[in-house]
Amino acid sequence: MKKFLSIMALAFLSLNASAQDQLIPKPVSIKITGGTFKIPGNLSLAPGLPVKETEYFKQKSGLSFGESGKTEAQLTYIKLKQPAGAEALNESYTLEITPDRIHIISYTDQGYFWALQTLIQLLEEHKADKTIPAMKIQDQPKLAWRGMHLDVCRHFFTVDEVKQYIDYLAMYKLNTFHWHLTDDQGWRIEIKKYPKLTQIGSKRKESMIGAYVDNTFDGKPYGPYFYTQEQVREVVQYATDRHITVVPEIEMPGHALAALSAYPELACTKGPFEPATKWGVFDDVFCPKEETFTFLENVLDEVIKLFPSAYIHIGGDECPKTRWKECAHCQELIKKYNLKDEHGLQSYFIQRIEKYVNSKGRKIIGWDEILEGGLAPNAAVMSWTGVNGGIEAAKTKHFAVMTPGAYCYFDHYQGDPQAEPNAFGGYTPLDKVYSYHPIPEELNAEQARYIMGVQANLWTEYITDFRQVQYMIFPRIMALSEVAWGTSQPEKYKEFEGRVIHQFEKLDRMHVNYAKSIYNISGKVIPAAGGVAYELSTSQNPSGIRYTLNGKNPTIQSMTYEKAIPVSASSTIQSAYFENGQLKSAVSSQQFTVSKTTGKTITLEQQPSENYAFGGAFTLVDGIIGNPRQLGKTWLGFQGKDVVATIDLGKNTDFTEVYFNTLDNKGSWIHLAKSAQVYASDDNSHFKLIGEANKDDILKAGGKMKLKVGQQMGRYLKIRIENAGIIPAGNPGADSKAWLFVDEIGAL
Ligand code: ACM
Ligand code: ZN
Repeated sequence: MKKFLSIMALAFLSLNASAQDQLIPKPVSIKITGGTFKIPGNLSLAPGLPVKETEYFKQKSGLSFGESGKTEAQLTYIKLKQPAGAEALNESYTLEITPDRIHIISYTDQGYFWALQTLIQLLEEHKADKTIPAMKIQDQPKLAWRGMHLDVCRHFFTVDEVKQYIDYLAMYKLNTFHWHLTDDQGWRIEIKKYPKLTQIGSKRKESMIGAYVDNTFDGKPYGPYFYTQEQVREVVQYATDRHITVVPEIEMPGHALAALSAYPELACTKGPFEPATKWGVFDDVFCPKEETFTFLENVLDEVIKLFPSAYIHIGGDECPKTRWKECAHCQELIKKYNLKDEHGLQSYFIQRIEKYVNSKGRKIIGWDEILEGGLAPNAAVMSWTGVNGGIEAAKTKHFAVMTPGAYCYFDHYQGDPQAEPNAFGGYTPLDKVYSYHPIPEELNAEQARYIMGVQANLWTEYITDFRQVQYMIFPRIMALSEVAWGTSQPEKYKEFEGRVIHQFEKLDRMHVNYAKSIYNISGKVIPAAGGVAYELSTSQNPSGIRYTLNGKNPTIQSMTYEKAIPVSASSTIQSAYFENGQLKSAVSSQQFTVSKTTGKTITLEQQPSENYAFGGAFTLVDGIIGNPRQLGKTWLGFQGKDVVATIDLGKNTDFTEVYFNTLDNKGSWIHLAKSAQVYASDDNSHFKLIGEANKDDILKAGGKMKLKVGQQMGRYLKIRIENAGIIPAGNPGADSKAWLFVDEIGAL
């Protein structure tokens, strides 16, 4: 009876979910004040409304407008005088809807604009019933920098597409567009003083296609693609009209191959160079000679004239030191300035550029590697490799924008990789983004003030057209927006998801290609007697899940999912979600390879890196073998660390083979294991070495190592898989710590 009641209560709630409950981002406060506002045939506009914002509203609201002073309801506005030192109120607004008018109060036109965005969402909601409950909304963003980044180098997007992207930011009240304009694969901004940057640097011979490990190219020239300065001004104006700041990124000293192709004299070696056709990190970077600084200063002069932003992004990430180590000029500089090493040289590079940018009245922001060798005094940090860069910045009174890969990289998969289009890797579904707390707990209140914002990044190696851009940012942009406005409640994720699904109707009307991954069946492996069990879930009614075990696509007649499916032998589970007899999701297909370790207890001496930790140690014995074409979810990634795993088989067990997989993806700094040793024990304290593999064995096996260990018996199995260590010269990321990707440790 109790259950029945709660279902009834739920149904009642969802039927009555009102428009104000559907808003994204959720405002800080909504008060229902009684009565209703009838949406008029003509909304009349009070005199003196901010012009451009109101023009935008007229276009997007779907209403008709009449002259002020007619009998129809009015939109009115009061701009308050801002108290001194109250910048935090810049973007705040009050939106009051009474039975006879809509009234906005704010301190700035920006606040007015955000109020209009809220109003647009409310009007949309009430198109059909034509009335809005009277209410008072008070709202203020928690974070001042609420950003979305777009890489236009790996793939290019037209001015119209960039404008659409900016419109998406505006819809969800994000205020910063980080435009990644230069990289190894293309230079995309016209610089009048250096025409070869776009003549030569804006095209490449061909492009990598498919998964990185396929090492396949399309054979088609790409480009020339770039924005003229005229077009840049147009985009900046478009964004400014929407209260969005455009922050340009000019990459240095790394990711410079397109620039060096045009001006090889700026490198340490002679060249010639070509814009990169594959993805990754490249050794040829800017050489810190006078000529290079003159070039970069001239480029920055033109960039600064085009972009009014307080910050100029100078990149600073992923700069291999290979060439600097061998370059006489670089080594002389290190001596001359008494620098510690090449990392000190990176710091010298960034600080010199910072001084220049500061001399023009602007500040620099860079990826967290600008912390290497000492941070430039006024620089802000964009913390991407994790949260530590942001923490270190805040503790030393530098501003930081949090954009850690595990939560904020929208080039990662957002659903089970096997049901998603090819993506960079990683696994960052909607609920993960929504669960992000941008202010690290390590910081006290004073330090926390330095966390100025949060941003999501969209790198486009695997995103070839704008439809795919839409797919990767929707719906995750909604989670980011609510996190940034500070009203996210991860514990109420389901409520948020309901609002997201509601927004899909609007996206359908806008013909936006959003991801429906939240409808897809999400699978989770759990330990179970005799192996593992596969738990399926959907954001929808779970009784709509059908599955098969015979390799066939599920139909409405297939087995109905009731509880976790036991997996005690190698098999494939296919599942899908049905509603009213119709297939509503992608078909998920999961292959299981069961061995004597499957589902057993496993412990790791060192944990994987946060970005590639997924299901933790259990991932290695979950019966799912990592797919080298998809780096999300099924692999664990360890940077600079060995994997030392102990598996408790539960009882004395005989076996003759131990297997494990390790990845070779040098472009992403992922190297095969250097060696492996396998041990067995009866008591978890005395271990006997029973098998070994060296680098050549692992290479020969293509990373799929199968070790014959003879007739063995033991309860505990221990395996040490050795990280390749420091990446050797001649490889992307040389000198950095290599990644070791490992999956599925099995025994037969
Ligand atoms: C980055 O993702 N390389 C900043
Ligand atoms: Zn050099």
